[in-house]
Amino acid sequence: MSRKFLIAGNWKMNKTASEAVDLIEEIKSSVGDQTSVQVCVCPPFTSLSQSSESVEKSEVLLGAQDMNAAQSGAYTGEISAEMLRDLYVSFVILGHSERRQFFGETNQIVNQKIHAAIGNNLKPIYCIGETLDEREAGKTLDIVRTQVREGLENFPTHSIENLVIAYEPIWAIGTGKTATDEMAQEVHAEIRKVLAEMFGDTSADSIRILYGGSMKPENAAGLLAQKDVDGGLIGGASLTARAFVGIIEAAQSA
Ligand code: PGA
Repeated sequence: MSRKFLIAGNWKMNKTASEAVDLIEEIKSSVGDQTSVQVCVCPPFTSLSQSSESVEKSEVLLGAQDMNAAQSGAYTGEISAEMLRDLYVSFVILGHSERRQFFGETNQIVNQKIHAAIGNNLKPIYCIGETLDEREAGKTLDIVRTQVREGLENFPTHSIENLVIAYEPIWAIGTGKTATDEMAQEVHAEIRKVLAEMFGDTSADSIRILYGGSMKPENAAGLLAQKDVDGGLIGGASLTARAFVGIIEAAQSA
């Protein structure tokens, strides 16, 4: 099964709208037309409208960093799937560890968001991963298995081609510590095994599993060479065109 690499930039709470457009223009000037690797940028909500115009007529896709599971209504401060679709957003990051840690999101809450995303033709990038304590206690595989099972409960198999998973060990996010290539591959293979149990081998084979956590141009090639690593969710290194493009180039030659 050949899975196209996806390199997605999670900009987190960085960049004003004009800074976002500047960065997208820079990214486009080096990789805006290539199609061998799928490229996506996920700016903050406030930059999505202008970013949407900036990515138009290029191969760069747009993603959001979160959304509410409800269709509409009295949810002050929240953003719905329909609002994202209206801005030509393709992907939405859901269940990022920072959402889980600072905003109390559970596998069950994220599951509702995943269903809402799929129901509105958005492609969820479902984030999972263990803490340092959990890794040191030997619980990593148990934790990610539960996150996959609970977060993807009742996921419709007919939408499986829209699902992306991101394995992000929490101890590697923004810390400069990366999982070794072997550590990443071990967890990715386990995730694919659970996906096969849930959705069958063919579906599991088609789902892209990204690695996230201090991925940068220097370590990207080794991680992307692993059999079950199908791209990256990039935080810090997605904030400059130079580093982000470096990772895309690593994916092109992996
Ligand atoms: P990082 O963040 O690349 O800065 O470690 C990744 C993420 O949180 O998605």
